[in-house]
Amino acid sequence: MREAALLRSQGLSASYGHVEVLKPIDIHVAPGEFIAILGPNGAGKTTLLKAIMRLIPSQGELMFDGQSIVNTPTWALADLGMTLVPESRMIFGPMTVLENLQLGAYSRPGADRAAVNADFEAVLKLFPKLSQRLDQIAGSLSGGEQQMLAVGRALMVHPRLLLLDEPSLGLAPRASSEVFQALGQLNQQGLTILVVEQKAPLALSLAHRAYVMHTGQIIATPDPKDIASRDALAHLYLGDIQ
Ligand SMILES: Nc1ncnc2c1ncn2[C@@H]1O[C@H](COP(=O)(O)OP(=O)(O)O)[C@@H](O)[C@H]1O
Ligand SMILES: [Mg+2]
Repeated sequence: MREAALLRSQGLSASYGHVEVLKPIDIHVAPGEFIAILGPNGAGKTTLLKAIMRLIPSQGELMFDGQSIVNTPTWALADLGMTLVPESRMIFGPMTVLENLQLGAYSRPGADRAAVNADFEAVLKLFPKLSQRLDQIAGSLSGGEQQMLAVGRALMVHPRLLLLDEPSLGLAPRASSEVFQALGQLNQQGLTILVVEQKAPLALSLAHRAYVMHTGQIIATPDPKDIASRDALAHLYLGDIQ
């Protein structure tokens, strides 16, 4: 049977020392889906993304597009189509916005100039604020603009699956919703998205499906369209929602 999921984990677990921070996790992301992973601070969300991106050792199975990636080094995942926007954003502060975007396309295998230019134009269209600031030093951008730049740079890799770790972290509500609006647009254009987020309502407003993590486990899979289950979850598990 052909694997329908773009990404699938089966019994994926990870430990720091003797502490099993990630209990066996089963998740899947189908092509075209927008999936949210929610949960309070310390739930293991970042650890899950690190395991998916092969940044930490883990046990269990992990498949991308029907192929096992457990032995694939992190650097090779971009070639397959997986790109992570990490929590730290990894913006190069002393470099300009343009240079940061160019870095995204740097490692692109066999991409022709026309394809790179098309992605560049798409990024500028998605984030007009960046297009007005191409020569500005990235470190002088606002938090929201830096997150846009981090997403823009990830898009320059031309991913098939975009993974993001708490894109709204440290941002004002308005900037958070701008970033999520852009993610919604990207998904509507066909990009598959897996986003880790503490701000549940923001993520649930766009997600097709959601997983809630707590103490290293998936404890619920709420239906984002079901307001009652959203509210119940907010009270039960997601202490600091906004
Ligand atoms: N490098 C590390 N060494 C040891 N423990 C860690 C490390 N990173 C995270 N942890 C622990 O793993 C748990 C999950 O952390 P994390 O995945 O960062 O959660 P979240 O992203 O949901 O806030 C927490 O208890 C945290 O303290
Ligand atoms: Mg985290």
